[in-house]
Amino acid sequence: MAEALGVALLGCGGMGRTLAQTARKLDRARLVGVWDVAPAAAEAAGATLEAPWFTDLRRILADPAVGGVIVATPNYTHREVVEAAAAAGKHIFCEKPLALRTADCDAMIAAAAAAGVHLCVGHVLRYLPVFDRMKQLVDAGAIGQPFAMRTSRLGGWGEAAEWRRRRATSGGPLFEVNAHELDYMRYILGEPESVYATGSQTVVTDTDYEDTVFVTIRFAGGHHGVLHSSIGAAGGGYSGVIQGTDGVISFTNWPSRIHVHGFAEGGARETIGEESLTAPDAHVRELTHLVEAALDGTPPPIGGRDGRAAVAMAEAAVASIQTGQAVTIRPA
Ligand SMILES: NC(=O)c1ccc[n+]([C@@H]2O[C@H](COP(=O)([O-])OP(=O)(O)OC[C@H]3O[C@@H](n4cnc5c(N)ncnc54)[C@H](O)[C@@H]3O)[C@@H](O)[C@H]2O)c1
Repeated sequence: MAEALGVALLGCGGMGRTLAQTARKLDRARLVGVWDVAPAAAEAAGATLEAPWFTDLRRILADPAVGGVIVATPNYTHREVVEAAAAAGKHIFCEKPLALRTADCDAMIAAAAAAGVHLCVGHVLRYLPVFDRMKQLVDAGAIGQPFAMRTSRLGGWGEAAEWRRRRATSGGPLFEVNAHELDYMRYILGEPESVYATGSQTVVTDTDYEDTVFVTIRFAGGHHGVLHSSIGAAGGGYSGVIQGTDGVISFTNWPSRIHVHGFAEGGARETIGEESLTAPDAHVRELTHLVEAALDGTPPPIGGRDGRAAVAMAEAAVASIQTGQAVTIRPA
């Protein structure tokens, strides 16, 4: 039988359970334990996922059967949990946002490096069909050199756990939701250099952060991007454009559709509809990175540096909203 990575789930909420179910489907992984601070959550997840359950983090991390962990606890706990896992010598997959401060990301990256373990970060949007295909198109030169991008993600927040409703524990939507969009803009446009943002709290008032933001980011090489995001928009929608030297990709994610426009054709060169926008399961892909890192020593394609960059952009956007000034991003 092929070597299998023993994986432990740390944080048995909605996302953690989804990831653990995925881990159980991988040929080279098996779920060997689940942990949560809430005993009922740990016990219920242990029963559903057919794995031993723990409420003592040190105990599950001391189990030699655990070679890798999935960290899916609330955002403000990521640093503490990741550092504990690294100190125990476990390879790590951490949900986004990697942390709530760039300085915390630096400490987590250093802890993983010092322990000789890999740190993968869950920027799964890259692997959703529309975004996966757009990256392939960009890499294939379909629009020449990409230099500008606009993303608009509008929707409702719905019922949110208490930790999600406080900036101190979730970071607010710029971290909790838009870590995805910020990461994707960097994936397409390169390293961020500075951020200017505005925000308002107009519709969703039971939180302590903005419900609507505009974030303008300057990337290396003079590239630039804009994010318009709201958790207080009726109807919602997710759309945008990537502008390149030879063409433009326009997209909607709900429903999935991509148009590629060129200059010469004077219109749409290619339209890709939902039926042809398929991709391998995104969670399988991101957890396979953990398995390949742990068993084969393959550096994870989405690692600590990527997680840090998204956090740095979100942190700079909040600072810019609060000060009214553009904020320079400190390189890793
Ligand atoms: N990639 C994605 O698209 C995506 C989607 C949803 C959530 N997430 C991320 O996954 C993580 C978990 O989100 P969720 O929706 O599963 O949250 P959740 O509130 O459903 O679950 C969090 C779990 O962590 C446990 N926990 C462990 N340590 C804790 C502590 N110190 N304090 C409080 N609770 C603690 C809670 O008891 C709970 O069971 C977050 O980082 C979130 O940003 C990512």
